[in-house]
Amino acid sequence: MSGGQFISFEGGDGCGKSTQLKLAAAWLREQGVQVLETREPGATDLGLELRRLLLSGEYVPVPECELLLFLADRAQHVKAMIQPALARGEWVLCDRYSDSTLAYQLAARGLSDSADLKPMLDFAEVGASPDKTFWLDIPAEAALQRVSARTNMGEESTRLDEEALSFHQQVHAGFAAIYREHTMRIHRIDATNTIDCIHQEIRLQLQGMLG
Ligand code: TMP
Repeated sequence: MSGGQFISFEGGDGCGKSTQLKLAAAWLREQGVQVLETREPGATDLGLELRRLLLSGEYVPVPECELLLFLADRAQHVKAMIQPALARGEWVLCDRYSDSTLAYQLAARGLSDSADLKPMLDFAEVGASPDKTFWLDIPAEAALQRVSARTNMGEESTRLDEEALSFHQQVHAGFAAIYREHTMRIHRIDATNTIDCIHQEIRLQLQGMLG
């Protein structure tokens, strides 16, 4: 068995990445792989507090503050959970990572217009960058319909879910730009396909990584 791998699942709200992460983790475990399923923000105790501050809607941070809170969550997550799991040889499956910050804060909030923030993103990663990323690509309109269907079923929406369509379109454009820059690391998946079809595509990629 090869050593630990770090895999992130990315995409706009409602793209289906959390479902796919669970299916991928279950399949990897069937293959005998030790897996850490984790997410951002909110995987650590401190991160849970940050998640509440960021997403409950109780506060509306300015974009700069929003960015710093997501990065604070990441640094804690990397050092307390991701690096130790990789050191044990586990595979880390992470629901969102730095590409989300690039798409939501730097692209959609426009923070990258005023400063080069990439060094700060690197600092928060503390050396842990994904070996592979699955980008579940779906138009913002379709994804938001899924989010509102979930909300109608009683699931709580987050402060960012409730942003305008134009914000989610900018997030999508952000992910598309990141993908164009990192086609080796990022595997783009048409997230309008069925859950099973997407899972099979992810499995094929994981099979390749298992060697
Ligand atoms: P989720 O757990 O449902 O994916 O919600 C997390 C929300 O936080 C989602 O709207 C994306 C957002 N987010 C950012 O804006 N920046 C980040 O760096 C991360 C990790 C998430």
